[in-house]
Amino acid sequence: MTSTLTRAETWSLLTLSACCVGIIVNTFQGDGEPLIASLAFSGIAFSFTFSLIRWLGHTFMKANLKGRDMSKLKKVEIPENMGAVCAVVYLLVIIVFIPFPFYKDIVAATSGGGNREFVVEHQQVDTGRILHKFPHNKLASYLSAILSLQSVVLLGIGDDLFDIRWRHKLFIPAFAAIPMLVVYFVDYGVTNVVVPVQLEPYLGNMVDLGWLYYAYMAAVAIFCPNSINILAGINGIEVSQSIVVGFLLLANDILSLWAAPSSPTPHPATDPHLFSIYLLLPFLGVSMALWWHNWYPAKVFVGDTYCYFAGMVFAIVGILGHFSKTLLLLLIPQIANFIYSAPQLFRLIPCPRHRLPRFNTRSGLLEPSVTQWPRPPSRPVAWMLDLLANFPLPMLKLEKNSKGEIIESTNLTILNLWLVWFGPRREDRLAIELLAMQATCGIIGLFVRHKLALLVFREDNRA
Ligand code: UD1
Ligand code: MG
Repeated sequence: MTSTLTRAETWSLLTLSACCVGIIVNTFQGDGEPLIASLAFSGIAFSFTFSLIRWLGHTFMKANLKGRDMSKLKKVEIPENMGAVCAVVYLLVIIVFIPFPFYKDIVAATSGGGNREFVVEHQQVDTGRILHKFPHNKLASYLSAILSLQSVVLLGIGDDLFDIRWRHKLFIPAFAAIPMLVVYFVDYGVTNVVVPVQLEPYLGNMVDLGWLYYAYMAAVAIFCPNSINILAGINGIEVSQSIVVGFLLLANDILSLWAAPSSPTPHPATDPHLFSIYLLLPFLGVSMALWWHNWYPAKVFVGDTYCYFAGMVFAIVGILGHFSKTLLLLLIPQIANFIYSAPQLFRLIPCPRHRLPRFNTRSGLLEPSVTQWPRPPSRPVAWMLDLLANFPLPMLKLEKNSKGEIIESTNLTILNLWLVWFGPRREDRLAIELLAMQATCGIIGLFVRHKLALLVFREDNRA
């Protein structure tokens, strides 16, 4: 990869940045338009990330942050851990953005200068607010989101540098989630869940889960980053799946804002979705710049930092935006991959360091990769593997020796499963097909959430 931008790239990025700066300056007039400012900040984030990835490639290689692309004929080394650049630009941008949604509300609702004596009636602040302005108390959520992201990025970079063990990695995001769970406790504190209509006769219409609800949210925060990190190993898949999920979440926000009661004094229930948009737009900006360099044939790798960072952005918007169930609905391929991987993650089946599909140097296509059994599996495990291999759809492929003992089985990731089902294919085709599947599942998920949820729940919480 060259370390400079071409002339065309330089001019395009400069034009984009100049337009975005112009838009931001314009939002200072009048009432301020944080949504538009957020969009413009995302454009700037894109330009910065794009240029920095290009400029820093060599520096990263020199610092030994490099990886070998295993699915190519020539296994060249390329810069690894470029997601760290995304994460840093993202953090800086959302910090600079703070005054935009908050300043007007804080200053306009008081006499300014930190004085609180002319505080506008609480009720008026809550209902008489213009759509994109945030009340002061949302600042705590926003800051806790930044703190959680910073911790996860710090830990992610540590992982990329020192290759932390899997059992420790799993819990990295749990610590990072503490600030946001604390804010959830202080600010919102609701641990009730609505019971589906069909179960109401037995459970009533609400169930208070108490501390279990916090355990559930911590589990979401652990799951999201790790699930993206294990659906990985072919060019572009980590960042592309994150972009698809990001757009689906954005679509969910737009649908929810659309459906909110329209009146000149918008309902406070719209806040969580604005919060989510403010965090998602710059995320998509930095991710698209990374995508440009990571798509097949990859010129840089994203590193674990990116996977943790992306997953944590999703967890934060899901939890602090109060739509973690919708979030899980949009992560169905990741959930399927996690469940399918579980026997290897929990060492029922040997788990090699890398489970990415195997590159066939003759055909240039990817095939399912296998794990060798150092000694034949125990009876129950062999029985389970045989069952899975002969399922109506084969869930894995086995290799046996002359004595009928299992010596090899395919690695349990949905990338390999796809190859078992549909045969060998080129790396980019596999990525495109999986992304199409992710997008389809997500669109069905959104349909279920916005159209069918009323079959199961008495009322829709967006209204
Ligand atoms: C996770 C997966 C592992 C998979 C790896 C690939 C689990 C438990 N772990 O491990 O099975 O092999 O991600 O990212 O599921 N690489 C490529 N082509 C790519 C992307 C990565 O060859 O398109 C290779 C490169 O050598 C790169 C390395 O994978 O340096 C990065 O692996 P890393 O992210 O450190 O692996 P893990 O996240 O630990
Ligand atoms: Mg990884």
